[in-house]
Amino acid sequence: TWTPGHFITESIESIRSQVGKGKVIAALSGGVDSAIVATLIHRAVGDQLTCIFVNNGLLRRDEAERTLKVFEQNLGMKIIFIDATDRFLERLAGVIDPEQKRKAIGVEFIRVFEEEAIKLGKVDFLAQGTLYPDVIESVSSVSNASAKIKSHHNVGGLPANMALKLLEPVRYLFKDEVRQVGVELGLPEEMVWRQPFPGPGLAIRVIGEVTREKLEMLRSADWIVMNEIKKAGLYRQLWQSFAIITDVRSVGVMGDFRTYGHLVAIRAVTSDDAMTADWARLPYDLLARISNRIVNEVSGVNRVVYDITSKPPGTIEWE
Ligand code: XMP
Repeated sequence: TWTPGHFITESIESIRSQVGKGKVIAALSGGVDSAIVATLIHRAVGDQLTCIFVNNGLLRRDEAERTLKVFEQNLGMKIIFIDATDRFLERLAGVIDPEQKRKAIGVEFIRVFEEEAIKLGKVDFLAQGTLYPDVIESVSSVSNASAKIKSHHNVGGLPANMALKLLEPVRYLFKDEVRQVGVELGLPEEMVWRQPFPGPGLAIRVIGEVTREKLEMLRSADWIVMNEIKKAGLYRQLWQSFAIITDVRSVGVMGDFRTYGHLVAIRAVTSDDAMTADWARLPYDLLARISNRIVNEVSGVNRVVYDITSKPPGTIEWE
C-alpha cells in the first residue's frame, strides 16, 4: 500500500540516481506542489538545487513575501527572487481572452525564467510540480471527447529550447497525497494546507483586462474572503475559496450618495481533485460578513454575489 513515508524514501532515491551530479532548477510558485517538489529534491541532492521564484505581480496579497520567508527560514534553500511585476502587467495590457492571458503569462514566465537560468551556467534538470490531474486534463483531449478545457501552463509549457530534462517527482500523485507527503516532510501547516492557486494567478480572476486598479480591488476582496473563511474554521474543508472581480458595474447607494461600482463574485467549492466540484453551502451569516466587509472596505466595489454553479457545467475558475 501507498504511504507518504515510502513515497518519500523511494522518491529521494530515484531523484538521486536520476540527477547524479547534475544541477537542478525549480520554479517555486508559493503553492504546495512546487514546495514539496523542491523539498524532495533538496533532501535528495541538497545545493545542487537552485529555486527560482518569479513574482509575476498576479499573486495574492503578501504571498510572495510569505513564501520566501518559509523557504529561506524553514527550509534553508538557495532561492533567486525576481520581481517581474511590470513585465507581466505590460504584456497583459489589452488582453481580454482567458486563453490569451494564459499564453501571455506562460510566455513571459519562460522568458524571465530562462534569463535567470542562463545566469546559473550549466543546468541539467528542470523540476516541476505536475500532478496527476494536470497530466490527465492536458492529454485527454486527443483520446476522448472531454476536450482540453483550459491550457494549464504548468504542464509541458516550459523551456523548449533549453534542453533540460524534466524532473516531476509528484507526477502520479493526487492533491491529498501530495499534502500527506508535505506533512511527512515536516513542511509548515500553512503551506501544506494552502488551497490550490492557479499558475496564471489573479489574472484569470480579473475578468476582462488586467489592470493594477482591478488587481488591487481583487486583492483586498480576496484577503477578506480568506480571513473570514479561516476565522470560520472552513479553510481546510474547502478545495478553494476566493474572489473574482468583474467589469459589470451596478448602481448602489452609500450614505447619501449614489455609487456605480464593480461587481465582485465569491467562489467557494468542495472537491477531491478539481475534476468535479460542488459549490460550498457556506453559512448565510458568513456570506453576510464577507459581503458587508467587501462593500465597506474595498473602494470601487459596491455589490457582491455568490456563485452557486457546480463543475460541471461550470469550471472552478471563471476564466
Ligand atoms: P477549472 O477552472 O478548470 O480549474 O475548473 C481546475 C483547477 O485548476 C486550477 N487552474 C489552473 N491551474 N494553471 C494552473 O496551474 C491554469 O491555467 C489553471 N486554470 C485553472 C483551478 O484553480 C482549479 O484548482
